[in-house]
Amino acid sequence: MKALSVQHVSHAFGDHRVLHDVNLDVAAGQVVALVGPSGCGKSTLLRAILGTHPPNQGTILADGQPVRGPTRNVGIVYQHYSLYDFLTAQKNVAFGPMLDETSILYRTFCLLKWRAKRRRHLEEAVCLLEKVGLGEAIDQYPSQMSGGMRQRVAIAQALIMKPKVLLLDEPFGALDEATREELQRMLLDLYQENVQAKREGRQPPHTIVLVTHELNEAIYVADRVIGLSQFHSGGEQGATIVYDKAAPVFDTSQPKDLAALVQQREELRRIVFDPDRLQDRDEYVTFWKDEAGKMSEEGNHQ
Ligand SMILES: Nc1ncnc2c1ncn2[C@@H]1O[C@H](COP(=O)(O)OP(=O)(O)OP(=O)(O)O)[C@@H](O)[C@H]1O
Ligand SMILES: [Mg+2]
Repeated sequence: MKALSVQHVSHAFGDHRVLHDVNLDVAAGQVVALVGPSGCGKSTLLRAILGTHPPNQGTILADGQPVRGPTRNVGIVYQHYSLYDFLTAQKNVAFGPMLDETSILYRTFCLLKWRAKRRRHLEEAVCLLEKVGLGEAIDQYPSQMSGGMRQRVAIAQALIMKPKVLLLDEPFGALDEATREELQRMLLDLYQENVQAKREGRQPPHTIVLVTHELNEAIYVADRVIGLSQFHSGGEQGATIVYDKAAPVFDTSQPKDLAALVQQREELRRIVFDPDRLQDRDEYVTFWKDEAGKMSEEGNHQ
């Protein structure tokens, strides 16, 4: 099942062509890192997927439904925290579903039901805060938390809405390196929930598109890396996907396999970021081809 399908998306701001014929399918449970030169249109693409800024051309489907505006199917976390200063961590996380599901009228006329719902959302908020490593901080206010803690709350805030696709736009860009690594490991733990769900025949719960400037982070956290770039033949029409490959999946209990990381990082630098090398659009867009090859190989072994 495709969680996300971006079909022939192009976008320009006036005469400035930014995105050109972007095509991207993401299966449920994938964690996709999106990298590309600064200003190539990564945030523009995320805003189109989110539905707040529809593209000039093309179609976007989230969970099979056309995206025509913001919906619960797609959530986003930005670099700068979107927390309410006057609410504790727990209430910050529970706030979204409360707002979404209950109105003032509901609260006035169905007080008992409203209280039951509120209790359920607050309990769920605690579970999610434990999942992101903040079980001890549920009663703290944003002003009492570090940047890393606030960003964990922001991620829990997005997860409680159960989006079919979660977009992360430079989510750890403002954090120091050690905190950033902790949050990367938290994303890998979410990925392990997907692996577990697939093993048990359940729908994997987390489909993530992560925009990052950090190539190491992209390769470490994601199981698939996509490069958006204007450095391709036809680049004057805007940026498109010139790189789409699987990335190694890391186990947080093991040391990082640095050799695999370095090799892919160098390839990305060459294919996506080098203005002197105009890329053939399809040469390094091999994700589905490789996956099909891998599957048939596995089939042959059986
Ligand atoms: N609202 C807007 N009006 C006009 N031009 C815009 C607007 N938003 C973005 N742009 C332009 O579109 C291009 C792509 O911007 P975008 O923010 O999507 O890039 P990006 O890849 O996210 O960059 P960065 O890596 O620096 O975050 C840039 O040249 C930017 O100046
Ligand atoms: Mg951006």
